[in-house]
Amino acid sequence: MPNYKVRLINQDIGLDRIIEVPRNEYILDIAEDENIRLPSGCKQGNCSACVAKIISGKVDQSEQKFLRTQEIEAGYTITCVAYPLSDCTLETHQEQVLYNSSLYFKSDS
Ligand code: FES
Repeated sequence: MPNYKVRLINQDIGLDRIIEVPRNEYILDIAEDENIRLPSGCKQGNCSACVAKIISGKVDQSEQKFLRTQEIEAGYTITCVAYPLSDCTLETHQEQVLYNSSLYFKSDS
């Protein structure tokens, strides 16, 4: 299994760290192993506490159950059940950004 470099950024809190995440490990778990404190809740892909936005790269978040298709297409990811598929950059702490976005108020239809 390859390792990928995952850069976690958030300008508001001065976060800019790069972690090595194996293809078969969740990004949030490895961030916590590296003592990076990120928001989390259920850790099962059911809530929105750990939402980040993909700035670049790809993840496999097929286990998540919270985000709708258009939110995934807009780049949001549920980091507690996201495996890296490439080197990537994620902007963390995006739960409120998601809720404040017009996407959140759009229905699926
Ligand atoms: S912590 Fe609940 S979905 Fe990630």
